[in-house]
Amino acid sequence: MIRALKRKLFRAWLLRGPWGTAKHIANYPRNLIRDRLIARRRNAVQAKFDREFNVDTAGIISLADLDVDSPTWIHGENYGPTSPATFAAIMAASSIDVSDFTFVDFGSGKGAVLLYALAFPFKEIIGMEFSSSLHQCAESNIARHPLANRRAVRSIHGDATQFEIPDGPLFTFFNNPFSGVIRDAVLGIYVLRSISRAGSCMSALCALRMI
Ligand SMILES: C[S@@+](CC[C@H](N)C(=O)[O-])C[C@H]1O[C@@H](n2cnc3c(N)ncnc32)[C@H](O)[C@@H]1O
Repeated sequence: MIRALKRKLFRAWLLRGPWGTAKHIANYPRNLIRDRLIARRRNAVQAKFDREFNVDTAGIISLADLDVDSPTWIHGENYGPTSPATFAAIMAASSIDVSDFTFVDFGSGKGAVLLYALAFPFKEIIGMEFSSSLHQCAESNIARHPLANRRAVRSIHGDATQFEIPDGPLFTFFNNPFSGVIRDAVLGIYVLRSISRAGSCMSALCALRMI
């Protein structure tokens, strides 16, 4: 609890400066109530999916409460799953044959999106997550999901900036995993590699407001 508080204050100080941190602290009670209400609504939707597949993807978890040992944590965002409906809408809008594509979720958390992707014929499905507890949760969710059997699907524990982008067509997914320089660096590396390998690429950038 004290550690999480210290991390929150350190992060606010670095990203917002002294004046911004003071305002952040002043607004904290109001934001806390707003965030709790949003979380309750979103958890209810996600809990339905979790019950159906006997998995655990629900919850909004502050980055400060996560076990992350990475120098980029300061730019990371809190955990919160993409809803099944949002993912379905993205896939409906992309309307391509994905059977040659490797699906990559940058900042995959408990693996909710990896499980949704199982409903589509991706060649391979990969998630990259830097919190070890979320990664372990994703592994156990994958093991429990009925469609994961005999599919190439995995969660990798590590920093998205270190991800080795595989050859071939990629379908990348970003749901507010990180901001600032890390987002620019990962997107930059990804776009440059995709262009240099002349591989096809599709990217879904989710601009969902995460708490
Ligand atoms: C908003 S959640 C999205 C989870 C999942 N993609 C989904 O949509 O259900 C963002 C996740 O990105 C992870 N994350 C943030 N920065 C990261 C980084 N540099 N490398 C790997 N994971 C990161 C966080 O721990 C968190 O689980």
